[in-house]
Amino acid sequence: MGAPAQSLPTRILPAEEAMDEAVRLLASGEPVAVPTETVYGLAADATNGDALARIFEAKNRPRFNPLIAHVSSMAMAERVGVFDPLSRQLAERFWPGPLTLVVAVRENTLHPLCLAGLSTVGLRMPQGFTRELIERFGRPLAAPSANPSGALSPTTAKAAYDGLQGRIPLVVDGGPGTVGVESTILKVEEGAIRLLRPGGLSVEEIESAVGLPVQRAAPNAAIEAPGMMLSHYAPNAAMRLDATEARANETLLGFAGTPGAALDLSPSGDLREAARNLFSFLKKLDAEGASTIAVAPIPMAGLGEAINDRLARAAAPRH
Ligand code: TXA
Ligand code: MG
Repeated sequence: MGAPAQSLPTRILPAEEAMDEAVRLLASGEPVAVPTETVYGLAADATNGDALARIFEAKNRPRFNPLIAHVSSMAMAERVGVFDPLSRQLAERFWPGPLTLVVAVRENTLHPLCLAGLSTVGLRMPQGFTRELIERFGRPLAAPSANPSGALSPTTAKAAYDGLQGRIPLVVDGGPGTVGVESTILKVEEGAIRLLRPGGLSVEEIESAVGLPVQRAAPNAAIEAPGMMLSHYAPNAAMRLDATEARANETLLGFAGTPGAALDLSPSGDLREAARNLFSFLKKLDAEGASTIAVAPIPMAGLGEAINDRLARAAAPRH
């Protein structure tokens, strides 16, 4: 207990060359950082307790926080989780993609460390390299974001490497995430769709696809996605939100052409572009030594809900 993580050399391999090595490492119980359309994930065999323990150690992640299990097909998802008709409809419409569905877990399928004691599991089918990797591996991969617990999620291989080097053997470089914020987490209960975490799939898109309202939690409701602690996704700099100009010693992160901004999340006011840029721009301003990052107001529509959620967490009091 408490021993510092063993330092080991961390390689970065381009996705085109990494498949065999990634499969080999996963099969031997090692965690591997992998690209997804949302953020980079730190993946390990979701049925292997030792492999899962390595994820928690590498990230220094609290064990009460369950992991999302990633699947490559609906058949694999149904082997692990119990799908009601509405959850199945959502999966068929939006997978592969930036959506996680919380469903009842089937017993003796995933290791308990993946579930943190819950009787439900968060399932997601990612796009691209990682979906192919799961298909090759043949079992679900648990993967939280590939960052030390509490830090900004990585949207590039370099960012994943910077956070976890010396703690994992391999980062697979699949280029920057096309969505840039983590998946939207939904749970269907008694025929109603509940939003557990806003993310890369907007509520508007979900509502228009299924013709049902998505219910948001009341502001003071108990935390239902156990990872949704208030302070999270934090840069080193202090944060001030809804800023219309930079005060002394502040660096301004703009949106839609904010005058005087050091960086602009989307000069044209495109919320998808802003989501893609959010974590890498915060990291860049942090690396440049900003003491306070002042962020321009971001509209709440579409992906603005996820962006504002992450900004509020980045700005929350730290512990
Ligand atoms: O886009 C994403 O979702 C990325 C990529 C790598 O897939 N993953 C990700 O994982 O963001 P992580 O561990 O950083 O966030 C997972 C969230 C946590 O807040 C966790 O508490 C919640 O999902 N979660 C997992 N299983 C759950 C369950 N059974 N019920 C409620 N929340 C759950
Ligand atoms: Mg995370």
